[in-house]
Order: sequence, then structure tokens, then C-alpha cells
Amino acid sequence: MSADPIERKAPPQTRADWTIDQGWAGYTAAEHQVWITLYERQTKLLPGRACDPFLKGLDALDLHRAGIPVFARINEGLKRLTGWTVVAVPGLVPDAVFFDHLANRRFPAGQFIRRADQLDYLQEPDVFHDVFGHVPMLTDPAFADYMQAYGEGGLRALGLGQLHNLARLYWYTVEFGLLQTPAGLRIYGAGIVSSHAESIFALDDPSPNRLGFDLARVMRTPYRIDDFQQVYFVVPSLQALVDATLSDFGGLYAWLEDARDLPIDAVLPTDRLITPGAQAYARNGGRAGA
Ligand code: PHE
Ligand code: FE
Repeated sequence: MSADPIERKAPPQTRADWTIDQGWAGYTAAEHQVWITLYERQTKLLPGRACDPFLKGLDALDLHRAGIPVFARINEGLKRLTGWTVVAVPGLVPDAVFFDHLANRRFPAGQFIRRADQLDYLQEPDVFHDVFGHVPMLTDPAFADYMQAYGEGGLRALGLGQLHNLARLYWYTVEFGLLQTPAGLRIYGAGIVSSHAESIFALDDPSPNRLGFDLARVMRTPYRIDDFQQVYFVVPSLQALVDATLSDFGGLYAWLEDARDLPIDAVLPTDRLITPGAQAYARNGGRAGA
């Protein structure tokens, strides 16, 4: 996921840019087994759900079934395809550090893996979320450009005190974005593809609203970090996402100062409604009510 606003202190072995060695030889057999379990579960589920660029990226990088991948090996292929690399970090890093990595086509990935009793839910992004979820999309040229632009825009937003607005864009695209294709809706968001339950919910459940992507609309929409989303935004293509975010956000940020946040489950007359949500899941208490 994105960096959070909490002030963080780097663990002792961390370099100035917050990267660490992946320390691949230090993973235990049990940790590799967690990767294998998650990997097999998701690769069975995702054909016909994840978008083609994701599935192609997964193949191209050979994020193997044998266990937690070696970042240096991923980077051989990834660097050749789009100039991106993956670097290991201990966990969430400060915003400025995170954006600086993205602006330089480096994706900071959590080095650690979740415990076997946390397969479905954890707070901090681990190596499965970061590498399985995020890295395949970085093989797509349009998405690769988008992520770099996001890093540059993040540094700018930080200077302008506008990160709260930009973070919503990351959330509703990079983490929870859906893509319209001739074959139907597909997932490209890393928060969805790395979650077994949300990979089903985001596409099939009648609860959430699915709305056409609109930049200003997204920036007025709060999000949930504790449960399935109540709204997903759908882009017509990855290139359309790049195009929609090319302009300088300065004017938009100024306009947002006076525009109120929308209720998370709102449907506006101006929204392009893809599927209306009944919101039954959230109204029944979501994860807590399950
Ligand atoms: N165009 C944005 C700006 O002016 C930068 C950006 C691009 C941000 C793509 C996010 C995604 O800040
Ligand atoms: Fe993420």
C-alpha cells in the first residue's frame, strides 16, 4: 500500500534511502511455504479476473511457485522491460522516501512475509502484497509511466500540503483500480489481486458501487483501510489513466479546498455508473459483522 503519515524511524541496518538487503538466504522454509500457498491460491483464481497486463507480467517475471522470489532475478527482466527495479525495505517508509523511489522507477517492497495465520489480512504491506500485487503491473509501459509520474506528483503534493488528496488517487487506482475490457471488468489494483476474498468481492459482489474513473471525483472520495471497498473506480484503459493525470494538479488542489468530501457510498447524477451497489455488505457491518 501507500506510505502512511506516521513518523517512522529506520531500523539500524537500513540505508539512508531506507533500503535493506533482501537477505533471501535468511527466509525459512515456513516463510517460503506461505508464499507458495498464497501464490497458488491467487494464480488459480486470477485468470479471467486480473487484467491481461497483470497476467502477462506475472508470466514474464517468472515469480515462481518455488517460494519467495529473489529480487535481483526479478530485476533482470523488469529492468529490461520498463526500466523499473524492486528494492527491499523493512516495511512502510516515509512519504518523501517512497515518492523519491517511485520517481526513479524503483519500487520499494517489504522484505518480510506475513505469518501463516495471517494469510487473508495484515496491516503492513509484505513481500507478497508488494511483489505479487504490484510488480507485474510495472511490466506494462503505460502503467510504468503512471507510477513514475505518481512519484513525481507525490513529491510535489508533499510540498503543497496536498498529500491527503493525492493519496486517494493512489488508493483508487494503484491499489483498488478496475479496468474495463471488451471481455468485462478486470482487476489491476494490487490491493485486490493480492487478496483472495477481495478478488472475488470487487468483481462479483452486488454491494459496492462501481463508477467510471474521474480524477476530481476520486479525490473527493474517502476510502476504507480496514475492509473491502465500498466503491471501485473503473478506467477505460491504462493509457486513459495516464492521460487523465498528465495535467498539473495545482488548479485541482486549489478547487478541492472548497469542495467537500463525498459520502463513501454516494452515487452522483454526474457519475458514470457501471454497476450500482446495494451496500449490503457494509451496512451489515462488513468484516466485523461476518
Ligand atoms: N500531474 C500530476 C501533478 O501535477 C502528477 C501525477 C501524475 C500524479 C500521475 C499522480 C499520477 O501533480
Ligand atoms: Fe500496496
